[in-house]
Amino acid sequence: MNVLIVGGGGREHAIAWALSKSKRVDHLYCAPGNGGIAELAQCVPIAATDVKAVVDWAVGNRMDFVVVAPDDPLALGMVDALDAAGIPAFGPTASAAIIEASKSFSKTLMEKYHIPTARHRTFTDMAQALAYVEEQGAPIVVKADGLALGKGVVVAQSVEEAKEAVRAMMGDRKFGAAGAKVVIEECMTGPEVTVLAFCDGEHILPMPSSQDHKRAYDGNRGPNTGGMGAISPSPNYTPEIAERCMEEIFRPTVAALRAEGRPFHGVIYFGLMLTPDGPKVVEYNARFGDPECQAVLSLLDSDLMELFQACRSGTLDQVAVRWKSGAACCLVLASGGYPGSYAKGYPISGLAEAGRTAVVFHAGTKLGEDGAILTNGGRVLGVTATGADLEQAIQGAYAAASHIHFPDMHFRTDIGRV
Ligand code: AMP
Ligand code: GLY
Repeated sequence: MNVLIVGGGGREHAIAWALSKSKRVDHLYCAPGNGGIAELAQCVPIAATDVKAVVDWAVGNRMDFVVVAPDDPLALGMVDALDAAGIPAFGPTASAAIIEASKSFSKTLMEKYHIPTARHRTFTDMAQALAYVEEQGAPIVVKADGLALGKGVVVAQSVEEAKEAVRAMMGDRKFGAAGAKVVIEECMTGPEVTVLAFCDGEHILPMPSSQDHKRAYDGNRGPNTGGMGAISPSPNYTPEIAERCMEEIFRPTVAALRAEGRPFHGVIYFGLMLTPDGPKVVEYNARFGDPECQAVLSLLDSDLMELFQACRSGTLDQVAVRWKSGAACCLVLASGGYPGSYAKGYPISGLAEAGRTAVVFHAGTKLGEDGAILTNGGRVLGVTATGADLEQAIQGAYAAASHIHFPDMHFRTDIGRV
């Protein structure tokens, strides 16, 4: 099969790595890809959000299957457009991807189907939102409704901070149209766990749990990022909690989307908080998480292509998926300054040495003219190691990363320890 992956970050490198081991896949392509993906797939210089160009290219180059990995093209209906062009694609249609693209939609869905989540109210009127914050008090959580690169959420410790967030989103339109509506939520407490699950519209197959580290600095301090590292499985996710999540959250979510006429085919990302009252949903995403994907897929011991196809055809209940025992850790090496401004174009050394004991997934890299690998983004690499247990996986990732260098490199020293 000819398979095109849409996207160009660490998650897409991990997907390319897993698909490159599939017996079903003959040729891999990636749009736009990056410096690391280029070793496994032919990179095509088309932006992941350019729906028309991707569809035209896929038709013109006879793709048999397309994997749409990032959130924006899913929300833009890339899977629908590929379907219309007769090319099977992995990922939800726009009508199902809305569980990520609109927080107010997903909150209303959870309320209607009694899926546990934080109490909330949605506002389109700024004065009413400010009055509600005043009435509820702090701590309280303010979220822009639409996609805002993971940055449209403020966990406010004071009423004043919450009101400032409301004004920035609704008044100043800091996140553009994403802030025309805001969701204001009760602040939950407890460890956070991510569960990614394959879904075929009817059946759901959770992968091993994982945990992201969203803040830029050690001790969960500093600004929110796309994710500075991930471990899998999460030590907080016990078999008892897993069973409860399956009954109270996972199956009801899939059934709810089906009942609403929005059957979900793809990967659902359950962002969960293990609160004193039980597990509750923080957010849904309509795709693999990044960097959770890198950690979780490095434990996969089955053919990913077979799983992707089963998600489309509604036959997930007939697939026997195997996972390696043990654990994985993905350590992100970022450009100094990220998630603020940072320089690009620095040469990276030590990749081959690191690659002897870990898999180095590229996120923001590109191939230089002389074949050298250069930095080209905020999150640059995800050094991913597996081990017999979490401790070994963490040590393996840090040991491998110690070989890698580029100017101003930044990483957290406590992935898997907080
Ligand atoms: P989200 O983009 O909705 O996942 O939110 C980003 C982060 O904000 C989450 O990973 C949580 O750490 C935090 N957060 C979001 N909603 C809540 C909530 N209701 N209570 C406490 N923390 C929250
Ligand atoms: N790691 C969080 C996300 O992918 O949304």
